[in-house]
Amino acid sequence: MRLILLGAPGAGKGTVAKQLTAIDGSVQISTGDILRAAVKGGTELGKQAKAYIDKGDLVPDDITIPMILDRLKEDDCKSGWLLDGFPRNKNQAVKLHEALKKENMKLDIVIEMELDRQIAKNRIMGRRLCVNDNNHPNNVYIDAIKPDGDKCRVCGGELSKRDDDQDEAAIDKRHNIYYDDKEGTLAAAYYFRDIADQEGIRYITLDGKAGVEEVADQLVKKLEA
Ligand code: AP5
Repeated sequence: MRLILLGAPGAGKGTVAKQLTAIDGSVQISTGDILRAAVKGGTELGKQAKAYIDKGDLVPDDITIPMILDRLKEDDCKSGWLLDGFPRNKNQAVKLHEALKKENMKLDIVIEMELDRQIAKNRIMGRRLCVNDNNHPNNVYIDAIKPDGDKCRVCGGELSKRDDDQDEAAIDKRHNIYYDDKEGTLAAAYYFRDIADQEGIRYITLDGKAGVEEVADQLVKKLEA
């Protein structure tokens, strides 16, 4: 399956991506994870990206678009992929669509996770990351997925926070970009929604308010429908 997963920062994209790739074996490509790994590794890409990520700005399109289009050509993508965090604006959506057409690659599904901005913000600020798997659900503000003391509730691993999760101004900027339906991420979502019928793409919306298990159930039911 070739799939794009869209949702506000904190909507639960990483959490759902983990569940989806376990079902169908496609590879998760998270733009944020690729960029953070580059920052941690001190690569040229990481040095360029860091300032943008810290401030909640998008890393420029001339960096991210070729980075993702090249990634899609790698061998592990042949059996399917799930894009988590790309496209992030209308330009990225158009460029991705053009590139897929050129490579004769059919996009199967676009998922839009709907979530109120304040809930998304609370989820970001309470998120804790497990050293063994970033997508193990852990959140200090949500009873159902509260960490086990200072350890991961799934595997007991060490927990940490993301720097860009604790800066409210940066979070607001990330959300402004997401909820911009003219040029931002919602514009990218609507770009695909508007061409879905003519291109045979399934456009699925998910209610992101529900709990982790409920969102997964909702998704499975919609995929089977
Ligand atoms: P990125 O890493 O993509 O971050 P993001 O979009 O801000 O999304 P998050 O990872 O914060 O949230 P998520 O939706 O995955 O939520 P999660 O599942 O963790 O991007 C970071 C930065 O990189 C950007 O700001 C930008 O600078 C740069 N960048 C990335 N892509 C780019 C691009 N294409 N172009 C340019 N720049 C780019 O869930 C959040 C929390 O809620 C967790 O604690 C989780 O356990 C919990 N949770 C999840 N689901 C539920 C649920 N159903 N109920 C209750 N709690 C839940």
